Amino acid sequence: MEDKNQNQLIDQLGRPMRDLRLSVIDRCNFRCTYCMPSDEVGPDFPWLGKSEQLSFDEMIRLVHQFSKLGVEKIRLTGGEPLLRNDLADLVARLNEIPGIHDIAMTTNGIMLSRYAEDLRKAGLDRLTVSLGALDKTIFRKMNGGFDSPRQVLDGIEAARAAGFGNIKVNMVVRRDMNMSEIVPIIEEFRGTRIIVRFIEYMDVGNVNHWERDQVVPTAELIQYISNHWNIEPVAKHYTGEVADRYRFSDGGGEIGFVSSISQPFCRPCNRSRLSADGKLYTCLFATEGTDLHTLLRNGMTDEEVYEVIRKVWCNRNDQYSQTRWGGDTKQESKQKIEMFYIGG
Ligand code: GTP
Ligand code: 5AD
Ligand code: SF4
Ligand code: SF4
Repeated sequence: MEDKNQNQLIDQLGRPMRDLRLSVIDRCNFRCTYCMPSDEVGPDFPWLGKSEQLSFDEMIRLVHQFSKLGVEKIRLTGGEPLLRNDLADLVARLNEIPGIHDIAMTTNGIMLSRYAEDLRKAGLDRLTVSLGALDKTIFRKMNGGFDSPRQVLDGIEAARAAGFGNIKVNMVVRRDMNMSEIVPIIEEFRGTRIIVRFIEYMDVGNVNHWERDQVVPTAELIQYISNHWNIEPVAKHYTGEVADRYRFSDGGGEIGFVSSISQPFCRPCNRSRLSADGKLYTCLFATEGTDLHTLLRNGMTDEEVYEVIRKVWCNRNDQYSQTRWGGDTKQESKQKIEMFYIGG
C-alpha cells in the first residue's frame, strides 16, 4: 500500500515503519520467570549457533535497507545484548548509517558497569535497564537466582557517569512476586531523571506459561501509586510510543506504564523486529518471520533485499494485542515466538 500524500511506505492499516528492534543474541545470563524460566530453558536448550547468527556486516547491510524504507530508530535487544561480543563496534557502525537518528538498548544491566563507557563513546543514545526488584531475594526469585540488584544499580550509575542522560528502568510487575517493590523502586529513582516504567506482564511466547491473574492492570497500579504520591498524565512524546507517561505533581519526575494487556497500542504500531538469526517479524506475537539471512547468504543484492522488506511491510496487518480478547481464541493457543528470541 502506498500513501500517495506522503510518498512513504505504509502497511495495510496505514502504519509507517519507524523502529527496528534488532536482537543481537538469543542467550541471556538470567532466567526471568516471565521470559525464559529455567525449568523450560535449561542447559540443553537449542540456542542459535554462531553461524546461524547474523554477522555485524550482515546487520549493517540490512539496516541500510530498513533505513531507506523509513526506519529512524534502532533498539538493540537480546536475550541479553551485552553477551554479544564487541557490541560497541556494532553501535559505532549503526551510527554511521544515514537516516538512523536514535540508537537505544534494552539490557538487564548486569554487565553495564563494564561496557557503559565504550557504548556511549560508540554513539549509543539511550539505555533501558530491566529491574524487577531492589530486594535481593525477590530480585533473584524473579530472574532465576542470579547476582544482585546492587550490580544493576552500579551499572546504571556507570551509565550516568559515562554520559547517558536518557535512562529508563523497566519493571515487569507480577502480582505474586514484586508488588511490594513498586514503592521502593519509585523511591530509588524519583528525582533522579531516570524514568521507571511499569510493564504489564504479557502473554508473549509459550515457555512462561502466562496466566492472566499474574497481570496487574495499569489502572490498578495508578490507583496504588496514587495512594503514595500525586501523579498526573503527560502527553506522549511521539506517535507509537508504547508507554503512557505520568509525572509526579511535586516535580519528582516522570514514570510510565506499558499496558499491552489492558490498553493495547497496536493502532500506531510502527515497529519491525529482526531476530538474531535474521528473521523479520512484524509483530511481537508473530508466529512466522521472513528469513532475510538466507536471502543474504544466497547472494541477493541490496535492491532485492529492499524489495522483500518493502513487500513484507506492505502486507502487514498485525494487531495482536488489540484482537487477543476479541473472541479470537485461536490466537491464545497458537505457538508464539519467544520473547528472548524476538527481543521484546
Ligand atoms: P522507547 O519508547 O524507545 O524508549 O522504548 P520502548 O518502550 O519501545 O522499549 P522497551 O524495550 O523498553 O519496551 C518496553 C516494554 O514494551 C517491553 O516489555 C516490550 O516488550 C514492550 N513492547 C515494546 N514494543 C512493543 C510492541 O510493539 N508491542 C507490544 N505488545 N509490546 C511492546
Ligand atoms: N511481559 C512483559 N515484559 C516482558 N519483558 C520480558 N518478558 C516480558 C513479558 N512476558 C521485558 C523485559 C525487558 C523488555 C524488553 O521486555 O524485562 O525490559
Ligand atoms: Fe534475560 Fe531480559 Fe529475558 Fe530476563 S527478560 S531472561 S534479562 S532476556
Ligand atoms: Fe505492534 Fe503487534 Fe505489539 Fe500490536 S501486538 S503493538 S501490532 S507488536
